[in-house]
Amino acid sequence: MPTMNLVPATANDYRRLAEKRLPRNLFDYIDGGAYSEITLGANVADFEALQLKQRVMRDVSKINTSAHVLGQDWAMPLALAPIGLAGMMARRAEVQAVRAAEAAGIPFCLSTVSICSLEEVAKAATKPFWFQLYMMRDRGYVKALLERAKAAGCSTLVFTVDLAVVGARYRDVRNGMAGGVKGLDKIRSALEYPAHPKWLMDVALKGKPHNFGNLAEFVPSAKSITDFKTWVDEQFDPSCTWKDIEWLRSIWDGKLIIKGVLSPEDAKAAIAAGADGIIVSNHGGRQLDGVSSTINMISKVRDVLGGKTTILMDGGVRNGQDIVKAIASGADAALIGRAWIWALAARGEAGLGTLLRTFKAEMNVSMALTGTTKIFDLSPSILEL
Ligand code: FNR
Repeated sequence: MPTMNLVPATANDYRRLAEKRLPRNLFDYIDGGAYSEITLGANVADFEALQLKQRVMRDVSKINTSAHVLGQDWAMPLALAPIGLAGMMARRAEVQAVRAAEAAGIPFCLSTVSICSLEEVAKAATKPFWFQLYMMRDRGYVKALLERAKAAGCSTLVFTVDLAVVGARYRDVRNGMAGGVKGLDKIRSALEYPAHPKWLMDVALKGKPHNFGNLAEFVPSAKSITDFKTWVDEQFDPSCTWKDIEWLRSIWDGKLIIKGVLSPEDAKAAIAAGADGIIVSNHGGRQLDGVSSTINMISKVRDVLGGKTTILMDGGVRNGQDIVKAIASGADAALIGRAWIWALAARGEAGLGTLLRTFKAEMNVSMALTGTTKIFDLSPSILEL
């Protein structure tokens, strides 16, 4: 990028600004994927490879990007995906994000492992938001957490199922985020913080407390993110199966969405187990490297689930055109992960607001030039297949 640019225009512009602003380990934690990052790359590359069909001479004077998904009206078929530790990248990031999402008329999903608690986000929100759950071994914690989510006004539970074990993320190993840093390396890593003064002032000093806001009441003895991480690693339950959905259903009466489904077989199993919908996701390429991109699985999943089941997707969405491609391929809506946290880390709530307006404008252009005026019109017929 030429250094002359004054105004970030795209998600990738915000990415570059976030890279400058954040300490290396935090930037890499957001940016990286598992193993050789093949799937991370494929998520983006397969969106780029999918071609739209240009159509002309249609009346496109009125474009409507609004959608009705999961019983809610959305200004565009996009939501903010759950991002753990977001509050380490921008000051009280989850609060800023829920405000930006509301202003844009789209849902925000809070992670189990967020920095801001359900209650802190609820105070900033004026509408119901979503809560994402990782299954913990102690079902008593899970039950208590869901009671808090309900009390905080969460309408939708997103249950993430693709983290039975944590993927091998080598950038985190190299940066010491996965632990094991000693001696001189420890000093070198600590020097990263003063080298990023804007982040240091805004997040490290003014953005406290830095703990997992939703879990603090379960581990009151934990003093740092590392203490919490150790606890979280011990608590995540790899023995979880579809049977646990029945139990979740018995304690959660709102919408239930299963996140992290990539195969048509699992998509069918999720709906059979009682979910209201699924998110086709490979966790942004952070779990099993070498699996398919998500955009390439959408039509296969739609084929087995039929027209009525809610199918959301995430992974590689970097602009409004990608949203149009996802819907045309068979999704009801898309979510963004990295794009929102890059914008927030770089330019705060205002930056995220601008990026979301850009996404909507990009949807408008893509729809107009494919000869479509409403979300309902988006179908494989606008794709070069
Ligand atoms: C995630 N993701 C994630 N998913 C989840 O269910 N709970 C979580 O706490 C997190 N945390 C998290 C942290 C970071 C830094 C990233 C990048 C991702 C996955 C996320 O919700 C989403 O599936 C992907 O980010 C989508 O891919 P893109 O948009 O980042 O390409």
